[in-house]
Amino acid sequence: LSSLKTKKLGHNLKFHETLPSTQKEAHHLAEDGAADGTLVVADEQSTGRGRLGREWHSPMGTGIWMSLIIRPDIALHQTPQLTLLTSVAVVKAIHDITGVECGIKWPNDILYNGKKIVGILTELQAEASHVKAIIIGIGMNVNADAADFPDELKKRAASIKSLTGREHDRPAIIQAILKHFELLYNTYLEEGFEIIKLLWESYALSLGKEIYARTVKGDTIKGLAKGIDDEGVLLLETRDGTVHHIYSADIEII
Ligand code: BTN
Repeated sequence: LSSLKTKKLGHNLKFHETLPSTQKEAHHLAEDGAADGTLVVADEQSTGRGRLGREWHSPMGTGIWMSLIIRPDIALHQTPQLTLLTSVAVVKAIHDITGVECGIKWPNDILYNGKKIVGILTELQAEASHVKAIIIGIGMNVNADAADFPDELKKRAASIKSLTGREHDRPAIIQAILKHFELLYNTYLEEGFEIIKLLWESYALSLGKEIYARTVKGDTIKGLAKGIDDEGVLLLETRDGTVHHIYSADIEII
């Protein structure tokens, strides 16, 4: 990562061969005052974390496991916007590297042919209603072969290598992600969420479709994914015409 194309992001780089979780490490660093744009990268995570309390399989050397610390001056309720911004940056980076356009399943799973290539976990450090730091974790399967995934993931996961049939240089992908993130993030800070929202919608796989949304509480709601609102919240219309605001859930396209 010696020739970063960004002005700020990733210049304070903390690389580890192995960590329990880059997300956990980034939380500690952010609490200790780490600068805006600090990036934590590991070759392997022993206890990688996914959304909704799940584990994230992060074996040595075949993926990108990284967490970015940013300190935007935004209100708490705007943080989902950054989750969506991140998924747009990642789709654009994958397109640069492979020529393939992936889709986004709300909020931020990056899929190709129904299989997940990247997961994104956005977490927050806040004081009262003020955002102190946002920790954006990105887990990307890069050079894994289908046979490398544990059985329970084989049907659901794929890698960048599976898109192109060849191995890819992980630092080049990290650079591409940071470059797109920085461009979009500056646009967002200067002009707001509108452009990011349009871009996100252009990659969205679920909009206008019937979906099941399984919420954190364990309820399942079936309905039509109408869109996202100006804060990135999913709008789900059930048969009785009620529009539910879904802040956090797993969705399945029916
Ligand atoms: C998901 O559930 O889809 C989100 C997965 C996020 C995984 C990444 S890998 C780098 C960072 N460190 C972690 O422990 N998790 C995130």
